[in-house]
Amino acid sequence: MDGKRKQRKKEHIKYSMLLEKMLQRNVFNDITILHNCLSQVNLKDVDLSSNLQNIKLTSPIIINAMTGGMKKGEIINRKLSEIAKKLGLAMAVGSQTIALKRPNSIRSFKVVREINPDGIIFANLGADATVEEAIKAVQMIDADALQIHLNVPQEVMMKEGRRNFTGAINNISEIIRNINVPVIVKEVGFGIAAEEALTLVENGVKIIDVGGTGGTNFMAIENMRNKSQTYKHLQDWGIPTPISLIEAVKTVGNRADIISSGGLKNGLDAAKSLALGAKATAFAGSFLYILLKEGPSSLEKHILKIEKEIRYIMAMTGVKNIEELKQRPVIVQGNTFQWLKCRGIII
Ligand SMILES: Cc1cc2nc3c(=O)[nH]c(=O)nc-3n(C[C@H](O)[C@H](O)[C@H](O)COP(=O)(O)O)c2cc1C
Repeated sequence: MDGKRKQRKKEHIKYSMLLEKMLQRNVFNDITILHNCLSQVNLKDVDLSSNLQNIKLTSPIIINAMTGGMKKGEIINRKLSEIAKKLGLAMAVGSQTIALKRPNSIRSFKVVREINPDGIIFANLGADATVEEAIKAVQMIDADALQIHLNVPQEVMMKEGRRNFTGAINNISEIIRNINVPVIVKEVGFGIAAEEALTLVENGVKIIDVGGTGGTNFMAIENMRNKSQTYKHLQDWGIPTPISLIEAVKTVGNRADIISSGGLKNGLDAAKSLALGAKATAFAGSFLYILLKEGPSSLEKHILKIEKEIRYIMAMTGVKNIEELKQRPVIVQGNTFQWLKCRGIII
């Protein structure tokens, strides 16, 4: 079983890389931040800091959950955490379920804390984890928060995946009641609707990562893994990231901090997310692709460029910080506008 789990993790990396190469990552095309011709901003005063509840972020860029559990995962986690440390970014590890079952894979996760003793690190488990497992995952890496991932479309596509999803929300609120770090509930690329964002908040969730469509697609990945039977026509399932972001922000208001992720590719997507009300932005597949194809120094340059782009956009918008960026008008057009109209959500 655990050998199969390792193999699956390797295949997730392999197929996400293949899909990444073909991906457009253009879901934010319907969103425009209003230009400000009378900007009064001095670029050196632009402040990119943010916060997720009590967690202070010096940058709104988060390296999202990807891997761990096997040698390759350890190497990737090591490189990502070196970059996270150097650039002061928060970083999540991949699902730690394997380490709870197989102690010899704990190293591949712990390495992230060893390299970055003072950094912001998020643990990661599925919504079926017990309180005891959640506590162990957090302790394993001395995590600042626990991510709980929601991934029903991936599980149903996976031959060996879960088939029973009952109890997820009760489980999440039980974990929140019994753990001493903030819990971030995240989707893995199919989005979170207003209805479920509200349910999460009503059950004590204070940080939501919308993880919408437009980037890494785990239904496509599972279809590539399962050569005997594919469900290609289901692959477009889900809620595009900007829509999910707007649905969540408009519904939960200031009762939870929202992270934008799923298909983000550059500083413009990140700035649009922040203008739409996200507290932070998270990147996974595109970072992994650059890391594995071009190496750590390319990824480092790429992230610095994203931050620079956000700063430039803030200058062009006439705002000095993320709070002010949120006040700037945003124009929503096309399919995104139509969707929100159908849903009765006014932006
Ligand atoms: C290779 C790979 C492995 C992943 N493994 C996990 C995981 O273990 N736990 C999790 O919560 N999300 C996992 N994700 C999902 C990401 O954290 C993220 O939610 C998703 O990829 C969408 O973001 P993106 O479009 O920037 O890749 C994984 C993503 C990739 C590319």
